[in-house]
Amino acid sequence: RKKLAIFASGRGSNAEALHDAIKAGTINGDIVVVVTDHADAGVIERAERWNVPVIVIERKGFESKDAFEQAMIDAIAPYSPDGIVLAGYMRLLGPTFITPYENRILNIHPALLPSFSGLHAQGQAVVAGVKVSGCTVHFVDTGMDSGPIIMQNTVPVYADDTEDTLAERLLPIEHVTYKEALALFCDDKLEIKDHIVHIKG
Ligand code: GAR
Repeated sequence: RKKLAIFASGRGSNAEALHDAIKAGTINGDIVVVVTDHADAGVIERAERWNVPVIVIERKGFESKDAFEQAMIDAIAPYSPDGIVLAGYMRLLGPTFITPYENRILNIHPALLPSFSGLHAQGQAVVAGVKVSGCTVHFVDTGMDSGPIIMQNTVPVYADDTEDTLAERLLPIEHVTYKEALALFCDDKLEIKDHIVHIKG
């Protein structure tokens, strides 16, 4: 089984969906630690309920991004995670963090990448007037939402949608997609060749 560190900045509904799938036996992994950059993040209460240790590491405590990321590396090292699962973690990770975990960091983004990367992805989709949007689970590289795509699923976008109504329609699809993608990762079924993810057997 894979040891997983979940990183989340906010409410943690994706984290909860993954926890549920682990408890239901559909993901061959265990959440060994939750890391958050916000002392008031909703995910903290959830992790306490699961009896999973929580590490709060706020950016403001460090003089540089590099020092911040090195502190996160050091803090999670005792848990020796096999995979890092970003679930609403709202910071761009740099090489200090990513290099030691190369191809072992997953993220979910609430748009069909490479469209609408960055913040307010659902709002960007509404403003663009696209008729279909969705979510993307991908490996993380040092670019902004640019790593190899693992899985995507779609939802319709309606003319009277707002950022919030689209986000609400998307959320359950995110949960389903992340569970499926993380299950494949934990079963060692994902292989990256030239930036393309192949699903084995
Ligand atoms: C989700 O919609 C996730 O896709 C998004 O934040 C939300 C977190 O919700 N992530 C990003 O926008 C990453 N740039 P949650 O805390 O309930 O899982």
